[in-house]
Amino acid sequence: MKNADTTTALSADGVWEDLRLAPGLFRGDSPLAEHEAASLVVQGGVLRWVGPSSALPLDYAGLARHAGGGLLATPGLVDCHTHLVYGGQRAGEFAMRLAGASYEEISRAGGGIVSSVRATRAASEDELFAAALPRLSALLDEGVCAIEIKSGYGLALEHERKQLRVARRLGQALGVTVRTTFLGAHALPPEYAGRSQDYVDLVCSEMLPQLAAEGLVDAVDVFCERIAFSLAETEQVFQAAQRLAIPVKLHAEQLSDMGGAQLAARFRALSCDHIEHLSQQGIDAMQAAGTVAVLLPGAYYTLRDTQLPPIAQLRAAGVPMAVSTDHNPGTSPALSLLLMANMACTLFRLTVPEALAGITTHAAHALGLSDTHGLIAAGRPANFVLWNLREAAELAYWFGHNPARTIVRQGRIVKG
Ligand code: NIG
Ligand code: FE
Repeated sequence: MKNADTTTALSADGVWEDLRLAPGLFRGDSPLAEHEAASLVVQGGVLRWVGPSSALPLDYAGLARHAGGGLLATPGLVDCHTHLVYGGQRAGEFAMRLAGASYEEISRAGGGIVSSVRATRAASEDELFAAALPRLSALLDEGVCAIEIKSGYGLALEHERKQLRVARRLGQALGVTVRTTFLGAHALPPEYAGRSQDYVDLVCSEMLPQLAAEGLVDAVDVFCERIAFSLAETEQVFQAAQRLAIPVKLHAEQLSDMGGAQLAARFRALSCDHIEHLSQQGIDAMQAAGTVAVLLPGAYYTLRDTQLPPIAQLRAAGVPMAVSTDHNPGTSPALSLLLMANMACTLFRLTVPEALAGITTHAAHALGLSDTHGLIAAGRPANFVLWNLREAAELAYWFGHNPARTIVRQGRIVKG
């Protein structure tokens, strides 16, 4: 069954039996020994009970049965940082980079984000939807059940609106949880060249309030960097978000240490993302604020970055670490969250349990979805994946392979 067609999806209600639950990614209603066969009960699209098959309460004994076949079960994956909706693509820049041009050089030469802005502005809402659909389908086919989608390639009210509306439509069309993030302060639009403050004023006083009033903004993000927006400009955008009680997150310390993480922590940011140049003060501030560190190995890899994010210090401080695709046409045209888990281990030296929590529990946390996503537990919407794997470590081990056998998303069997 193709997951692009939710209308033909089947209800997941009933008892899912003979499963192996991935360690650390579930909360049982009854103690479960290692390797013990587990059952999940789904009623009305919601997980009602999780535990050993041998302890299934009698109340559920008469429900429909789904044979789990001994498959490994994890919560639905969560991709907590994407720029999935945009016009065009930037394979040409990829070639330029191979010839030696840096991210900053490409950006200063009018390429980079601004070239996607041109293509996004030129595209209609339907064209953006059609372009994003196969990308989202690819992520979903690997078990993603919740995804963040940012704006930031429109950089003008009507075009930012277009992107965010497409993000909402994608969520409805494919039956997946979509969290929209307004990233109006992603780059300076060409028509504001030399007038950064005017643009930030527009973002704060017109674009954000209007788009929020239209119900299109779940969070607000800024690209705080030498080639984008300053710390003071970032603060201004965060204040505008705070006035509207919208949570914030930040593209922070990707190319340099701007002190963005400390600022974001002052605003109790959901997450700081990229963070290759994060300082110890930034880590301490994030820890105190409960801000998630979102690691984006796809961008690190594409840019052939050599500055590793401070994993050991984040771990020592107990800052939750999420892992995401950062899907975008410039620095991370990645369409596999499992590959990002693999790269987080291989490139960043995350442990396998850290990488798996990074694409589930902690990613949900980074989206403010801790109560509904990222963990198999009773009371949550049924979002889970059954994998054709012996052990959970294989999720981060294989790459270029999709072992998702069955996907239950929003209480529906959408694959398998
Ligand atoms: O997350 N860092 C800024 N934004 C994107 C890159 C976007 C682009 O190059 O189009 C990122 O890597
Ligand atoms: Fe990004």
